Amino acid sequence: MYIINKSSKIPIYQQLYLELKKDIITDYKPNQKLPSIRKLASLYNISKNSVQKAYMQLEIEGFIEAREKLGYFVNELNYKEFKPKTTQQTTPKQKEYKFDFFPAHLENKTFAHKIWKRLYNKVINEHTNFGHYPQGQGELALRVEIAKYLQKSRGANVSAENIIITHGFVDSLNLVAKLLKSHSNHFATELPGYHIAHKIFSEFGYKVSFVEVNHDGIDIQKLKETKAKIVYITPSHQYPLGINMPIQKRLELIDYISSIDGIILEDDYDSELRYDTQPIPSLQGLDTNQSVIYLGTFAKALSPAIRVGFMVLPDRVLKLYKNHYDSHFCHVSIDTQKTLTAFIKEGHFERQIRKVRNLNRKKHDHLLEELKQLSKCKIVAKNGGLAIIITATIPYDYQKLQELCEEEGIKIYLLKERSGSDFEAVRMGFGGLSLGEIPQAIEAFGKNWLRVFEQ
Ligand SMILES: Cc1ncc(COP(=O)(O)O)c(C=O)c1O
Repeated sequence: MYIINKSSKIPIYQQLYLELKKDIITDYKPNQKLPSIRKLASLYNISKNSVQKAYMQLEIEGFIEAREKLGYFVNELNYKEFKPKTTQQTTPKQKEYKFDFFPAHLENKTFAHKIWKRLYNKVINEHTNFGHYPQGQGELALRVEIAKYLQKSRGANVSAENIIITHGFVDSLNLVAKLLKSHSNHFATELPGYHIAHKIFSEFGYKVSFVEVNHDGIDIQKLKETKAKIVYITPSHQYPLGINMPIQKRLELIDYISSIDGIILEDDYDSELRYDTQPIPSLQGLDTNQSVIYLGTFAKALSPAIRVGFMVLPDRVLKLYKNHYDSHFCHVSIDTQKTLTAFIKEGHFERQIRKVRNLNRKKHDHLLEELKQLSKCKIVAKNGGLAIIITATIPYDYQKLQELCEEEGIKIYLLKERSGSDFEAVRMGFGGLSLGEIPQAIEAFGKNWLRVFEQ
């Protein structure tokens, strides 16, 4: 007998369906006949309609079949081996850190919550058609705002037509790797450099060459020796060393890449966050040969949580995009795109950049002062982004440092973990810490820094 509870919120047909399914899996034999609809309905005092719906559901899932004029029969299933899995729902515990030096966090309070909420409400009340897909390249109005911003603030040479909105760096690079495959199969990247870039290109089957970075950016002579036609660089704030590539070298690189019909992928990920000088104009703005793909993100100056990035494709690459991927829908939701459009259009983004820059400048300066007091510590990179890079002036066990910090709830990040190189250093991220926390955080870190020397 099945248990059918007529006062339950679960519809009767569904209760019956579940009971029957259990029975079919455990007791029934293949080709065995099920009771008729009428019989079950009268047995449980339920409507024939409910029994019919339960049978239909079992039929569509393949457990039973209807044979004309004969009734319902159990299908030939490997049902003896079929044991539905019941996964124990446990909530994985996330370790809480007292201090987390993650190099790409921003403080929650820097985000313009109130403004974003107001604009978002307006967007969903008035301007969003939730019945439509987002446009392939991203909303035109957002692309127009980004083009204006890039022209004004990054000295880039951009039209909205050439912009593709993405949901961040990985999305941008996945697309670029697909687009460029027909052009060349050889990708070069900085060493040390952003690990995600070379990972993506090797996943797409490219040959990957690593080219050393010297005091003014990627070594062009060594790049030439690789013969790679696609090169990924971070010229305005080299990841992770913070180097700025000077204008002569930018022009030399563009000249060289143009001469081999190659492509430069310029990752301009955090140029808004410079603390000693004005942001450095983009390399894309110097290019007259359609040899630069510009990659940008809103993760640093606005929020890494909203997941919006973009890229600017030169016409010849845009053509490839239009041939192959124009029918793709943009991965960023329409409401986020529209809210961001209004945010930039009404001037909030520029104000936001100033706010994020000023706050992080204070944190940077504060952290720098604290780090200068640390024994046997050398500053490798400063003055930009969301991290200061430090290294020890004598041989040092960085792994031990990480272990000791971990034990005390301090999360630190070694440079080699995310840079493809074995350069020993620590990336001291400050963006996610509050100004007030920095002295305590560095005191806690400093104790462990010294303990390693004593071991
Ligand atoms: C070198 C580099 N490029 C790009 C990004 C931006 O990534 P996303 O747009 O996925 O947040 C980051 C983020 O930390 C980065 O470090």
